[in-house]
Amino acid sequence: MQFFLDTAIVDEIKEAVALGLCDGVTTNPSLIKKSGRDYLEVLKEIAGICEGPVSAEVIATDTEGMLAEARFLAKIAENIVVKIPLTLEGLKAVKVLSAEGIKTNVTLCFSANQALLAAKAGASYISPFVGRLDDRGQTGMDLVSDILDIYMNYDYETQVIVASVRNPVHVLDAAMMGAHIATIPFSTFKLLASHPLTDVGVAKFLQDAEGVQIPRN
Ligand code: E4P
Repeated sequence: MQFFLDTAIVDEIKEAVALGLCDGVTTNPSLIKKSGRDYLEVLKEIAGICEGPVSAEVIATDTEGMLAEARFLAKIAENIVVKIPLTLEGLKAVKVLSAEGIKTNVTLCFSANQALLAAKAGASYISPFVGRLDDRGQTGMDLVSDILDIYMNYDYETQVIVASVRNPVHVLDAAMMGAHIATIPFSTFKLLASHPLTDVGVAKFLQDAEGVQIPRN
């Protein structure tokens, strides 16, 4: 399973890369606005920090505009994946970009039929937004399960990025279902490693090891 970081904050990405656990990054206009950085400048910097796929979203809503922006974004760095919204105009753009060899992450997916269309259009990645569905009283992870079933039925190569992750349970469910990727906010990412019993255990072992010295080579 791959872990992407869902952020445009460079320091968080540097920390996750240093941990050796950051396989990619996803951004969107809201995340970049939150970073306070220039849209294109920060994308270029992120693509230089993380070697894996870095999703950069188009702003246009018409196919021609999306295609022009996608071609520009794809030239920023080799690891840029262009994020396209799941609309009919977006699907048309995905089909063209896929034929041109430009990788796409189809975003704002809220139904299995939308995901099916994205795969048929040749999307490299599909991003079902589980947290936003949970917020409305639907179970977001049910959507992920349906998409994985459909993609397996037809051997689609489109990879599923579980997005809009709000807590460690979303990551656990994604892993149990065999989703290819979860894109995770840094705060949730750090929670994955922590457990109060681990902290208590470390403190006790330290106490009991008082006076012990292990030579460091
Ligand atoms: C990732 O690709 C999405 O942009 C992101 O996960 C959306 O998360 P949100 O619903 O918390 O804004």
